[in-house]
Amino acid sequence: MKKTQIIENIMTEPHLLTQIGEALKQGKTVVFPTETVYGLGGNGLLDEAIDAIYTAKGRPSDNPLILHISSREMLDVLTGDVSLDALALMDAFWPGPLTLVFNKKQGVSDRATGGLSTVAVRMPRHPIALAVIEAAGVPIAAPSANLSGKPSPTEAQHVIEDLFGRVDYIISDDSVDIGLESTVCDVTGNEPIILRPGSISLKAIQAVLGKGSMDPGLSSIDEVLQPKSPGMKYTHYAPEVPMVLIEGEVHSVVDYLKSFGVKDERIGLLLFQDTLDLLGIKGESLGGRQNLEQVAVQLFKNLRHFKSQDYDKILCEIPSSAEGIGEAIRNRLLKAAGQLVIKV
Ligand code: TXA
Ligand code: MG
Repeated sequence: MKKTQIIENIMTEPHLLTQIGEALKQGKTVVFPTETVYGLGGNGLLDEAIDAIYTAKGRPSDNPLILHISSREMLDVLTGDVSLDALALMDAFWPGPLTLVFNKKQGVSDRATGGLSTVAVRMPRHPIALAVIEAAGVPIAAPSANLSGKPSPTEAQHVIEDLFGRVDYIISDDSVDIGLESTVCDVTGNEPIILRPGSISLKAIQAVLGKGSMDPGLSSIDEVLQPKSPGMKYTHYAPEVPMVLIEGEVHSVVDYLKSFGVKDERIGLLLFQDTLDLLGIKGESLGGRQNLEQVAVQLFKNLRHFKSQDYDKILCEIPSSAEGIGEAIRNRLLKAAGQLVIKV
């Protein structure tokens, strides 16, 4: 059990930032907010720090970590192979919620990359994340700051639930504004390939480069066609209670739920606001069907709401639209529900 310190006001008290930077450099684990979700950070150049991250999360060590940087110079430590396409994406989206996968330089620890010859790198735009990396002066390895398998944390309270006593510091600041993890994009080939959808959509990447595709393994139920990103094969985002998804336009969903009977208190409902309004019942709101950005920000918090002592099953609506952040929401929900969808 570690003695976890919770840090507030880091941006107004410079000595705290210096202390955190020093702690990271020496191999301590620090949870910090980013614009996507909270990250569980450690010195990306120090094997013992990386081991401490895997231990704190309970994560399989073949699932590689993203290295977070605060300047383009830091990228040089990690890769010597930055294509023109990669540069264009960095110009368009960094700092921000885009992770790029490069061929790694020799010397980048196999522990951080799960033994792969590539390394995933992101420059976050959250001011605290940038300041913390800058203070440490080294690339910071940081997976989402949840226990392995659970939904990623979007509030300090989620981090405390999962990691108090398992990390050295938690920087508390509730200002995550996207709510889903970054888009992961492989730029080692001739065409960029999205390995994990996020708020930066395939369309946005194609608008910059005029090319790009989704990893076909992402939407495949074929055992042979596995996703390219190691993390995408693990059970993930799972709420405590088994979940089934419902997909359809609002009236079909309402009719289905009415015929099915929605009175069972042990069945948790997580529905779009207009569905709840038409049903006239209590349930958790996903947010507006037409406002998927808002749905994304609240999604992991909503999944964490359902506890096994209160519910046996969750029925959750899934947006049909894969436009914009819809693709990423669909990806997370399908994984959280083990791909179980009722189409109505
Ligand atoms: O928004 C985010 O990306 C957050 C914040 C903290 O930055 N981080 C995050 O990290 O979501 P994590 O570890 O939970 O997810 C990283 C994903 C995993 O699916 C992992 O398999 C994939 O990135 N990944 C890491 N390195 C890779 C590589 N070299 N090649 C392919 N996929 C990689
Ligand atoms: Mg994660």
